[in-house]
Amino acid sequence: MGPNPLWLLEDLTNDMNLEKGMKILDMGCGKAITSIFLAKEYDVQVWANDLWIDPTENLERIKQSGVEDRVFPIKAEAHSLPYANGFFDAIISIDAYHYFGTEELYFSWYLQKLVNSGGQLGIVVPGVTKEINNEADLPGKLKNLWTDDLYTFRTYQWWKNHWDKTKHATIDSANTIENSKELWLNSNCDHELLAADEEDLFTFVKLIATKK
Ligand SMILES: C[S@@+](CC[C@H](N)C(=O)[O-])C[C@H]1O[C@@H](n2cnc3c(N)ncnc32)[C@H](O)[C@@H]1O
Repeated sequence: MGPNPLWLLEDLTNDMNLEKGMKILDMGCGKAITSIFLAKEYDVQVWANDLWIDPTENLERIKQSGVEDRVFPIKAEAHSLPYANGFFDAIISIDAYHYFGTEELYFSWYLQKLVNSGGQLGIVVPGVTKEINNEADLPGKLKNLWTDDLYTFRTYQWWKNHWDKTKHATIDSANTIENSKELWLNSNCDHELLAADEEDLFTFVKLIATKK
């Protein structure tokens, strides 16, 4: 659904320690392509959690890929997830966490609770290379194309601080993904917006942390 989810996932998991048999939550998995990849590549169990995509449709894709014994499609809203605290060894999220996770309480009150101590949390979100707080911060050509949802795009420094200040996790790494712009341009996403981005504002942010 998002731009090149598998490429983003590989970039993320290269920096994480995923081992056979782990229990992983794929938060905002969309069409569960990333969940299927994780099960096949790492032989882990994956809870493929999404809101907009029907889990029955995802189950079909999961079965066609032969991983229905390891990938479990679930429909649940990010603030009412049906999992026990400490259930997961890791949580990953590709191009979804910005829809709910910029809110101050989300990490502390919801996400981090689901991972066991020493477990990993890794996200990739679309972001920006400098903070945009209002229209005055916008580069010229983007002013007319900017929409309110794009204010959820933040810098990697913003995301790092967003989790770090909660004291629930140690930040392992926070950075932008190399060649983000190329990746984006090679997908079906909004090319008009990207073409207007003459200052290379748009990027992908990768954040990895370990639960204390
Ligand atoms: C752009 S899609 C990305 C899907 C997939 N991870 C990918 O990279 O192709 C964002 C996903 O976030 C999920 N999402 C957005 N808001 C959500 C919420 N409040 N609770 C759970 N999932 C949510 C949507 O269901 C959607 O599938």
